[in-house]
Amino acid sequence: MENSTDSLSKYNLLFKGKVRNIYDYDDERLLIYTSDRISAFDYVFKDEVPGKGILLTKMAKFWFNKTSHIIQNHISNEQLDIPENIKGNCMLVTKTKVLPIEAIVRGHLAGSAWSTYENTGKINNMEMLKTYKKYDKFNEPIFTPSTKAEIGDKDENISIKQMQDIIGVELTGKVQRISIELFKFAYNFAKERGVIIADTKFEFGLDKDNNLTLIDEIFTPDCSRFWLYKDNEINHNSFDKQFFRDYLTSIKWNNNQIQLPEDIKHSLLEKYQVAYNLITI
Ligand SMILES: Nc1ncnc2c1ncn2[C@@H]1O[C@H](COP(=O)(O)OP(=O)(O)OP(=O)(O)O)[C@@H](O)[C@H]1O
Ligand SMILES: [Mg+2]
Repeated sequence: MENSTDSLSKYNLLFKGKVRNIYDYDDERLLIYTSDRISAFDYVFKDEVPGKGILLTKMAKFWFNKTSHIIQNHISNEQLDIPENIKGNCMLVTKTKVLPIEAIVRGHLAGSAWSTYENTGKINNMEMLKTYKKYDKFNEPIFTPSTKAEIGDKDENISIKQMQDIIGVELTGKVQRISIELFKFAYNFAKERGVIIADTKFEFGLDKDNNLTLIDEIFTPDCSRFWLYKDNEINHNSFDKQFFRDYLTSIKWNNNQIQLPEDIKHSLLEKYQVAYNLITI
């Protein structure tokens, strides 16, 4: 509900992303409100998924905490003075200068990478082994960055060379190394708990002292592909936003506003909850 953010109106709304509202909290910090909005194929639906924002916030906070030994992140531990009813959707974070790239790491061959590989044998212009099948695990996780497009534009896959041209050689190396390390850590952690993180996306920024900082959300079902893993077998049904994209494809959705069926919203949230419970409890 849009009214739930009324109590944040004393803060200046800097930016309304597809899912998050970003408020200016003070000189050094932002207040991120994760809404129940859902987007797919870069389109934001008016209809919302109640409960999604809280779940994403809990999950991101969980992972930021678990991975802080690998890299500093934007979470500020200061107590927030905001009403109880929206606390669960909020994160107080350090302001950073966002790097204009998305750091995507893939442990398995799926999604758009699979389509490109199937057609060209390449992923992000990298020549790959010819022997992979759909959903296969790579020998080592691969780093497949994309641009971080302005509102309305589409993110584009880029090569490492292109990334170096955008943010520099040194920063590229660091982002790549840390992204792979984060991925490997979370992959093993989640696998032991029955979830395969097939791929994911990170965003990074530079804090006021120019330190590389992990920002936005991490290892949530909005920015990752989750499969269930049981008795040494992977079930490739998605416990993440792919479920929703598949629904849109199945109804031949035509880039327009639609009322989302209750059972779809319910199933989506249930899948997010299952992944959350397995990983965190
Ligand atoms: N610590 C931070 N400092 C500065 N900007 C941040 C920070 N954390 C997140 N952001 C930015 O806030 C926005 C979050 O909003 P949201 O996730 O809704 O964006 P979006 O429209 O989905 O865009 P994208 O698809 O690129 O994530 C992103 O643009 C993200 O880069
Ligand atoms: Mg986002």
